[in-house]
Amino acid sequence: MQIKSRIRTIAHYPHEGIMFRDITTLLKDPVGLRATIQEITNRYKKLEIDKVAGIESRGFIIGTPVAYELGLGFVPIRKKGKLPAETRGRDYQLEYGSDRIEIHVDAIQKGDRVLLVDDLIATGGTAEAAAALIQEMGGEVVECCFVIDLPDVGGRLRLENQGLKVFALCDFEGG
Ligand code: PRP
Ligand code: MG
Repeated sequence: MQIKSRIRTIAHYPHEGIMFRDITTLLKDPVGLRATIQEITNRYKKLEIDKVAGIESRGFIIGTPVAYELGLGFVPIRKKGKLPAETRGRDYQLEYGSDRIEIHVDAIQKGDRVLLVDDLIATGGTAEAAAALIQEMGGEVVECCFVIDLPDVGGRLRLENQGLKVFALCDFEGG
């Protein structure tokens, strides 16, 4: 509860019927921020991992300190048009709308064991696209790690059905 109780829920944002899980209240709290990063790094510190990849933008906030604590490098997976060098990209559907994410082609080496980090999994479309990009480049996704899972939306199952491992620090039933 150290983590879940610090996440704020905003009803009907950004659309009617959506319960928005807002991590800013977790991030601004020194106990909450430290617990979040420590719980994640404790899970992975004994595993063989080569790099951490985080998904723009909220995945950067969680993924970078996790990489730092694990003594690893960080790879940003960005929204379209933001990365300056040669990229590989994927379109994906969001819970509301669609988008495209990209990664630098030299970000992942063949055989790299990659921890994929984002703040939240809903439909799983974003993480699925990110994992596919990593795999296309010859990387192995060790696990997809989130602060929040919305199990009723089905993203975890979607990823697991593709053979991906999924971990979340907390979940919110009911979307
Ligand atoms: C949110 C969230 C995840 C994604 C989850 O990001 O931070 O990245 O949606 O949704 P999905 O599992 O249905 O794909 P958003 O695209 O809103 O952008 P942000 O991180 O830049 O706020
Ligand atoms: Mg996001």
